[in-house]
Amino acid sequence: MNYDIKRADLAPEGKKRIEWSDHDMPVLRLVRERFEKEKPLAGKRLSACLHITAETANLARTLQAGGADIVLCASNPLSTQDDVAASLVNDYGIAVFAIKGEDTETYYQHIKAAIEHSPQVTMDDGADLVSNIHSDFPEIGKHVLGSMEETTTGVIRLRAMERDGALKFPVIAVNDALTKNLFDNRYGTGQSTVDGIIRATDILLAGKNVVVAGYGWCGRGFATRCKGMGSNVIITEVNSIRALEAAMDGFRVMKMEEAAPIGDLFCTMTGDIRVLRAEHFNLMKDGAIVANSGHFNVEIDIPALEEMATECRRQVRNFVDQFILKDGRRINLLAEGRLINLAAAEGHPASVMDMSFATQALATEWVIKQAGKLKAKVYNVPTEIEDWVSRLKLESMNIHIDELTEEQKEYLSSWQMGT
Ligand SMILES: NC(=O)c1ccc[n+]([C@@H]2O[C@H](COP(=O)([O-])OP(=O)(O)OC[C@H]3O[C@@H](n4cnc5c(N)ncnc54)[C@H](O)[C@@H]3O)[C@@H](O)[C@H]2O)c1
Repeated sequence: MNYDIKRADLAPEGKKRIEWSDHDMPVLRLVRERFEKEKPLAGKRLSACLHITAETANLARTLQAGGADIVLCASNPLSTQDDVAASLVNDYGIAVFAIKGEDTETYYQHIKAAIEHSPQVTMDDGADLVSNIHSDFPEIGKHVLGSMEETTTGVIRLRAMERDGALKFPVIAVNDALTKNLFDNRYGTGQSTVDGIIRATDILLAGKNVVVAGYGWCGRGFATRCKGMGSNVIITEVNSIRALEAAMDGFRVMKMEEAAPIGDLFCTMTGDIRVLRAEHFNLMKDGAIVANSGHFNVEIDIPALEEMATECRRQVRNFVDQFILKDGRRINLLAEGRLINLAAAEGHPASVMDMSFATQALATEWVIKQAGKLKAKVYNVPTEIEDWVSRLKLESMNIHIDELTEEQKEYLSSWQMGT
């Protein structure tokens, strides 16, 4: 088996973490138990470009239990958990191409290795695998039955490909499933972004002015958690509805140029480019901290920061690079502008990835069942899958809800009955 990981001797530590997170993934476990019996993915080659974390390991185990021949590569150069990668190779016989801190060239070599597996099904977190197949390996793309996409930025890229007529195989927007983004983006990114920032800086959030760029699912999750920890949260937005929601949720909403001189901590989570740039760094306080939790490292204009600094950036703590500007002000950049929750912490907690990855595994089964029937389009996850996942998650939490009575069903589907 070919693979490229940091160190094989990290495997025992990785195995412990995989097993620990499995405990909090009961829905995925149920899928795995069924997959073990029914083998719905039997003989299918599957390449997945995902954050290599303990939770992803449990997804990979599930796909393997379903009979898939799976290869994993990283979807971000800084998000790999090297011990988990080692355990996947050593303990589960799953090929992994991922090393935390790999340079851009290695990152793309690893994606190429996953493509050379000639996948019939692919899985992405950010659409790097799909876009590379389309641009450099069109022959391999002809055999792809379908692809699952895990994140907002990936779905945006894939919809753009569909619009341009460039998309050559079907894609399932797993990110857009309610069982995914309502929970994973909001509660998962929300909590783990706080976790990553605290692990990197050890700052007290209480009393700090925290500026959150983007009030999408990730932004509102993070903003709400910071508020709960006593921060004064300011939101910046470009969408008027989202800005209104933020205002009515009790946050201050303003332009970034107004927030820049006030903020102690800035976190971008927009999926957009150059949200924090020279004009904002120019206004920031001495010691301001800037971080990103959006998918790509383009939300903070790091080249501008480098240009504005008097000397080379210096690392003042793990994951904290300090830039000293001409007037002596210091700006602290976290994790090279890459998603802070995966770079400095462990990404989303297992309990929330349980839903996302159960949805991923079931969408994979669905794509295989639909082979030949789907067009080169971006599809939503079928609602039956969402119902199943949410019902079982509730059951696993020992929460029971009411059912509609026959009378209520009739009432809700009729238009004749008024008061
Ligand atoms: N860190 C993680 O683990 C993680 C997890 C899930 C998603 N993501 C990524 O986080 C990003 C946001 O995801 P989401 O699901 O919240 O997306 P979303 O589309 O729900 O929200 C993004 C928000 O940012 C706003 N926005 C866009 N440009 C802006 C700008 N210049 N200034 C201020 N606001 C701006 C948009 O109007 C929108 O409301 C994406 O890149 C997504 O892929 C990261």
